[in-house]
Amino acid sequence: MKSLYGVGLAALAALFPGGQAMDGDQNPLLPVKFRSPPVGHIKPQGWLRDQMQLMADGLAGHEFDFYKYVANSSWVGGEEEYSSLNEGFPYWFNGIVPLAYALDDDRLKEQIDRAVTYVLDNQHDDGWIGPEQGHYRNFWARYPFFLGLTQLMEADVDRYGERGLAATYKFLDLMHSMLANGLRGYLRHPLDELNEEDVSWGRVRVCDMMLTLYWLLEEHPPEDPTKLLEIMKFLVEGALDWAHWYSDDVFIRRDLNLVPVNVTAPLFPYVHAVNVGQGLKAGAVFHRFTGNDTHSNTSRRAVDWTFEHHGSASGSVVGDERLAGLAPFYGAELCTVVEAMFSLSYLYKYFGDAQFAARTELAAFNELPSHFMPDYWARAYISSPNQPWAKNIGSEKPYWNVNSWASGFGMEVNYPCCTVNHPQGWPKFVDASWVLVGDDGLANVLLGPSTVTTTLPVPGGIQVTVWADTKYPFSDKLKYRVLTNAPFNFHVRIPDWANLSATTISGPAIEPGSPVQPDPVTGLHKLEMPEGFSEVTVSLATDIRLEVRGNDTVAVHRGALLYSLQLDYDTEVTWPKNYATNEPLPDDYPVPSQSRDYNLVNTSRWDVAIDPGSLAFHTTLDESTDSLNGLPNPLFAPNVLPVSISARACFLTGWGLYMGLPDAPPTGDRRRCEGGAFDVVLTPLGGAQTHMVELPTVELGEESYAARGAL
Ligand SMILES: *[C@@H]1O[C@H](CO)[C@@H](O)[C@H](O)[C@H]1NC(C)=O
Ligand SMILES: *[C@@H]1O[C@H](CO)[C@@H](O)[C@H](O)[C@H]1NC(C)=O
Ligand SMILES: *[C@@H]1O[C@H](CO)[C@@H](O)[C@H](O)[C@H]1NC(C)=O
Ligand SMILES: *[C@@H]1O[C@H](CO)[C@@H](O)[C@H](O)[C@H]1NC(C)=O
Ligand SMILES: *[C@@H]1O[C@H](CO)[C@@H](O)[C@H](O)[C@H]1NC(C)=O
Ligand SMILES: *[C@@H]1O[C@H](CO)[C@@H](O)[C@H](O)[C@H]1NC(C)=O
Ligand SMILES: *[C@@H]1O[C@H](CO)[C@@H](O)[C@H](O)[C@H]1NC(C)=O
Repeated sequence: MKSLYGVGLAALAALFPGGQAMDGDQNPLLPVKFRSPPVGHIKPQGWLRDQMQLMADGLAGHEFDFYKYVANSSWVGGEEEYSSLNEGFPYWFNGIVPLAYALDDDRLKEQIDRAVTYVLDNQHDDGWIGPEQGHYRNFWARYPFFLGLTQLMEADVDRYGERGLAATYKFLDLMHSMLANGLRGYLRHPLDELNEEDVSWGRVRVCDMMLTLYWLLEEHPPEDPTKLLEIMKFLVEGALDWAHWYSDDVFIRRDLNLVPVNVTAPLFPYVHAVNVGQGLKAGAVFHRFTGNDTHSNTSRRAVDWTFEHHGSASGSVVGDERLAGLAPFYGAELCTVVEAMFSLSYLYKYFGDAQFAARTELAAFNELPSHFMPDYWARAYISSPNQPWAKNIGSEKPYWNVNSWASGFGMEVNYPCCTVNHPQGWPKFVDASWVLVGDDGLANVLLGPSTVTTTLPVPGGIQVTVWADTKYPFSDKLKYRVLTNAPFNFHVRIPDWANLSATTISGPAIEPGSPVQPDPVTGLHKLEMPEGFSEVTVSLATDIRLEVRGNDTVAVHRGALLYSLQLDYDTEVTWPKNYATNEPLPDDYPVPSQSRDYNLVNTSRWDVAIDPGSLAFHTTLDESTDSLNGLPNPLFAPNVLPVSISARACFLTGWGLYMGLPDAPPTGDRRRCEGGAFDVVLTPLGGAQTHMVELPTVELGEESYAARGAL
């Protein structure tokens, strides 16, 4: 902490609802359990780098060239916005900055430079940043813009630090005066032309602005932080309170489509699925400032309750605009997936509880990639656990809000938000994959191929580089090469599904066969690293796991991967559709030749049940060779992934559709095989754009098979 609290301590103390003591240089924010190295210190490698390069070369990396809600946004001098929230450009900016700096992609860095230069050059005289004038000023779209700007300043402080901080603090002076004046820009004010829904987004998503304020306070504090702290106080006081939603009498555990609209409508900001994705972290973020345990408990409840009642086996929050329930025909929005991943990785850093890291990996390795065509030029707005096709399903649809094309892949199918907001997915995963542990420790917490080069903050600093050479989660083996100029503590998160009695670790000064002992809360296993170069190998042992889902179905997991029945498909390719009309975009829209919309139509039957006793894991990886390279690229594609699970299976009789997608399967006596048993191969969900995740179970032993009346 720099010399920040030499001034006005008494005044500051009065700001804190929790009345926390503040001595000398003490930071008034509660500490996070783990901090991340700065943006840019972690680089993806192997398959993870391939995914991010595909994004950079695909839709995400070309939006500033051609996509009107970015390239011609009102933030950069155009007039194109998909809603009055003016959030398209800021969403893109928040994701493209960490993507560009993780890859050191000069083309994207140049675009970022042009974009940010325009925005900062056009800061209003009174400090406002972004397009709005006068009486229509809503803070919300600033939150993702500042998340992007703070990442940019961190990644290149020499180029952007001074300019970015000056602009940000100038904006915050205005923000302070607006908030002090009846919370203008935040709550509805008689002088302003904001509607209730517009301001409610700012109030329910405000934890994202708090992150910027905390970053400023801790990394680049002003001489007198009083205003900064007052802004935090105003924002917390005016926020929509997630503790209300996550309380016993308010939270809706049921399928929301079965609940009267007069119950769900007043709760709309809390049942909006993207808000939920962002809001999972809200309580923890507030807790840093307020010290109020109700806030931290709210985040824990948010995760437990949301995933229990509105979560999928693939780690996402299920809902199309509004939360849904657990039925396998409901789906998850891509925006919700990336926001939930960011929230969960934040929660791991804040609380250090292993489940948050495990949930981040689950969503990242399974739900996220299933939303893209393998080349990352087209994305699905929504994807359901049981999604055997991705096409226009007709006017009778199981969704509450999204249109009948929403499961198809394309440029802006259903709505542009997922086009502009998806770029943050992999980059923020990578940036959260390593954390500092105290002053002299470094931990790999989200596993996968990456490299980190950073300085541990112990006095004098320790220079460390670690290469994580692994094909995880496709391989169970993690090989680390570690280079350090002084001894330090190296930690690896051992996933909760690892069989500890069969998992092994080798490395310097480790007795062969010594036990793997992850911390019961954080999941971190600690290793003392000597000065110089060392190698560490972790071999995780694991087996197939079945997760019980509704109506006698199971989801099949092994390690961090979720396996599904992948449906082969015929592809119908069209010129991209306008999201609102579903008519082709005008001929003169400068659509790159790779950007097309796709309907995927199953070329096989999907009504398959499996015998869980018959499952067997298969891998074609040769673990004795290169531990990093050698996976196909594109990777998340049908029939190329190196791991699979085989099963005995049969078709079920009488398993029909519900509004265009597979219904819940028949249960009890009505569950019968049609025809004989056969073998199926289950493959990782991420590579299966069309898939069945929640699979009904049958017993296909000769006896039970006959008893069930199969031929
Ligand atoms: C962006 O605006 C410019 C200038 O008005 C126009 O020439 C261009 O076609 C627009 N591009 C898109 C994608 O809307
Ligand atoms: C919703 O409407 C129903 C029927 O009109 C009514 O019985 C119920 O009390 C209403 N609930 C709320 C929370 O207003
Ligand atoms: C703690 O937070 C809860 C939920 O927002 C609130 O109801 C309560 O008043 C807060 N307690 C204090 C001491 O501020
Ligand atoms: C928060 O949760 C902990 C653990 O369940 C509990 O002991 C504590 O009373 C809770 N605090 C509040 C304010 O709800
Ligand atoms: C179970 O099946 C019933 C009846 O078809 C359906 O309404 C319900 O949504 C299903 N539940 C789950 C969790 O799939
Ligand atoms: C864990 O590994 C041990 C040693 O190989 C084995 O005996 C045990 O059955 C395994 N446990 C599970 C739950 O698979
Ligand atoms: C694809 O699914 C549909 C709907 O259940 C089914 O009628 C059709 O036969 C399937 N296609 C093939 C080639 O099996």
